[in-house]
Amino acid sequence: MSELTVIVLAAGGGTRMKSKTPKMLHQIAGRSLVGHVLSAVSEAGASRVVAVVGHQRELVEPHIAEILPEAVVAVQTEQLGTAHAVRVAVEAGAVSGGTVLVTYGDTPLLRGESLRALVADHEAAGRAATILSGIVPEPFGYGRILRGGAGVTGIVEEKDATDEERAINEINSGIIAFDGGFLAGVLPRIGNDNAKKEFYLTDAIALAVADGLGVDAFVLDDVSEAEGANDRAQLAALGKILNDRIVTRWMKDGVTVMDPATTWIDADVELAPDVTILPGTQLIGATRIDEDAVVGPDCTLKDTEVGHGARVVRTQAELAVVGPGANVGPFSYLRPGTVLGEEGKIGGFVEVKNSTIGPGAKVPHLSYVGDATIGEGTNIGAGTIFANYDGVNKHRTRIGRHVKSGSGVTFVAPVVVGDGATTGGEALIREDVPPGALAVSAGQQRIIEGWALVKRAGTAQAAAAEEALESGVPILGEPSATGE
Ligand code: UD1
Ligand code: CA
Repeated sequence: MSELTVIVLAAGGGTRMKSKTPKMLHQIAGRSLVGHVLSAVSEAGASRVVAVVGHQRELVEPHIAEILPEAVVAVQTEQLGTAHAVRVAVEAGAVSGGTVLVTYGDTPLLRGESLRALVADHEAAGRAATILSGIVPEPFGYGRILRGGAGVTGIVEEKDATDEERAINEINSGIIAFDGGFLAGVLPRIGNDNAKKEFYLTDAIALAVADGLGVDAFVLDDVSEAEGANDRAQLAALGKILNDRIVTRWMKDGVTVMDPATTWIDADVELAPDVTILPGTQLIGATRIDEDAVVGPDCTLKDTEVGHGARVVRTQAELAVVGPGANVGPFSYLRPGTVLGEEGKIGGFVEVKNSTIGPGAKVPHLSYVGDATIGEGTNIGAGTIFANYDGVNKHRTRIGRHVKSGSGVTFVAPVVVGDGATTGGEALIREDVPPGALAVSAGQQRIIEGWALVKRAGTAQAAAAEEALESGVPILGEPSATGE
């Protein structure tokens, strides 16, 4: 293979998105449109990438630099057509000989292997240009491939085509492989005497034919992979196709997906064989799930790691780690910095943030755990609150190994509870508890008679109290257990 330069045209406006975000930066499957293109381009073996930016380049340029720092960026200040855009790339000094592949920045479904096949075909035949084409039922809007007796003779744009040419359903995907020397020479010969008054890159084909050089079209079986997203409806449609592709790939690699239609997996997610994904699950960003883990139904996991054999049900998690064999959910909220140890448990209606819960440790019910370390085998009772914030600063709570805490405890950070300690129900733990000690703080129950009648006079509460007191029964009109 000769040196491969890829030009990515990304200067266009994308007005139909009706967005403050440039079209190329809209995301599907966890990557921007141009991010998907750059990944396909890298897979195709590009030795050099030139991105042509224009509209909102203050946003597009840094985004491209972040994904592919080695990409050369060329600025097209006015969008005068695809040939003009390619000329800007060539004039940026970035293109010499070898093969030059022109692609667009908004085609997220494009596969690296398709680009590679196009380039291989182009180079094997030694042509001046090879067009990536395809047969479609609705060719409206696309450039049509013109074929004569000897093969491809040119491309005609929709607006310049005759009725007869418009009936052709072989279209130009827009992606064209060129011989670099031919491309540099032909660009200055392309004019803009056409319906759109634009410099059409597609005119290069007829010019090559006129020069007696070889051109052809490489027909892709499913050219829809070169489709761009022009509005939000197309963005969603391409997102769905891409998701189907990703989900299908994981199923082929041994992942059970009960309902592919409601399972959304980002491009950078990694799954091991024998993972099971139940309906309504979104796996976002750099999420990784190990063998035999079961995730779902109804989970959203972002940048989260789930260990071997773990079980995660109806959970929202971000930047969390769930250890092997651990249990999470239902209705759990794992915020960044949550680390749950092997065989540990985070149960129903529990929120955890920036906390490590040791191996076999359990926070089973209705609790908030913030900025805490909980040791191995410790059990945190229902309704426990880790009060980590004093209104100004956040502090840590450290709970040792095999601690038993009663229900409704509040740990006021910073505080340390030693290994094997116990805290009584409803305790307010403000001071350190030594290992093995029992800490109780809920005092004897005190009764202040008639408090509501004085302090809540005139309310329904006071009225109810008064009626019950007068009647001599503690609860009036109590509904019976049988509902009578
Ligand atoms: C182009 C092709 C057409 C093909 C279609 C496939 C030409 C003349 N026509 O038409 O044959 O069927 O794509 O989608 O090439 N761009 C720039 N700078 C410019 C003009 C365009 O960067 O000055 C970029 C756009 O951002 C876009 C791409 O090039 O990503 C295509 O441009 P667009 O104007 O959409 O071309 P089409 O009319 O769709
Ligand atoms: Ca287009």
